[in-house]
Amino acid sequence: MKLRTILLLSFLGWKSLVVFGDNEIKSGEIWKDNTGVHINAHGGGVLFHNGRYYWFGEYKSEDTSAALRGVTCYVSDDLVNWTNQGIALAVTDEQGSDIERGCTIERPKVVYNSKTQKFVMWFHLELKGRGYAAARAAVAISDRVEGPYTYLRSGRVNAGQLPANMSREERERMDKLQPEAYKEWWTPTWTQAVKDGLFVKRDLEGGQMARDMTVFVDDDKHAYHIYSSEDNLTLHIAELTDDYTAHTGKYVRLMPAGHNEAPAIFKKDGTYWMITSGCTGWDPNEARMFSTKSIWGPWMQYANPCRGDNHRLTFGGQSTYILKVEGKPNAFIFMADIWRPKHPIDARYIWLPIDFEKDVPVITWREVWNPATYWK
Ligand code: DGJ
Repeated sequence: MKLRTILLLSFLGWKSLVVFGDNEIKSGEIWKDNTGVHINAHGGGVLFHNGRYYWFGEYKSEDTSAALRGVTCYVSDDLVNWTNQGIALAVTDEQGSDIERGCTIERPKVVYNSKTQKFVMWFHLELKGRGYAAARAAVAISDRVEGPYTYLRSGRVNAGQLPANMSREERERMDKLQPEAYKEWWTPTWTQAVKDGLFVKRDLEGGQMARDMTVFVDDDKHAYHIYSSEDNLTLHIAELTDDYTAHTGKYVRLMPAGHNEAPAIFKKDGTYWMITSGCTGWDPNEARMFSTKSIWGPWMQYANPCRGDNHRLTFGGQSTYILKVEGKPNAFIFMADIWRPKHPIDARYIWLPIDFEKDVPVITWREVWNPATYWK
């Protein structure tokens, strides 16, 4: 908080904070950090640790979304004022390294493993110069929340493993599919084949594709990696090992051929809620919402949770994370990105409170709101 604000507040009383706005979130606007610079943490996620919030995200440059620096970290006590902690995971200049400067690092998420006492960062990685072909999940660890993180490895996911929610009949149907037979995409027979596991079969040996992603730690401390797989057509939910740094081999497919990206998830009163987007590159589209009582499904689709201006286009953004506000029951913040592909560093953030109508999440557009006073 600036000195001018502190003096004004001592004169007017702290309640005037609501009016004077240092504690307000203004979605879609420039959001300055402690140094006065627009926060550079896109496609991000937030970890609450030792009473503070840590926001990790993609560092974007003026004219490229490629990773020229790495994953950034900011810290806050109030979710509005953020202090830049610098680069948590740095790209390298080592030629041929997975995380060579110029690779693509997207949607980093950090979780804490209380058994190993390590911070574990997962992200979507694309190798330098190879567009989006690699479709890998990557992992890094650190002893300190703000880093530096040590890169461990990357790759496709769960090689040789069949989805846990594929019955014997479905397995037999998939076995009969011939990937080379579908020269033309987007036809009804091709869509049916994707639903039946065309790409699961294609990628069985080398591992499943993993692009847009999040990581979720459940109440029982089991962690899950949720990612767009099968050429972004189907989401996978995959269990992580006890130390959170690898996959166990157990996974399920969610909404086969549903074309979901940008998964964000939270749990309230024993029910999991997931908000996703469709696949339209950097352009916004209508949010989707799913719910289940068990992480393994079955998941049910609900209506678009967004309300108000531009609700059919997720207010111009794309989901990235759902943040649990600590110390307040049922307080969650929907986080999304308004991408600016021509000027990536200028991409904006949407942070909105989640309300519940008959226990179903609803996200209403608000130009300004205050997380300190929104929840009683
Ligand atoms: C949409 C994804 O959600 C983003 O993370 C990014 O991969 C863009 N597509 C690239 O077009």
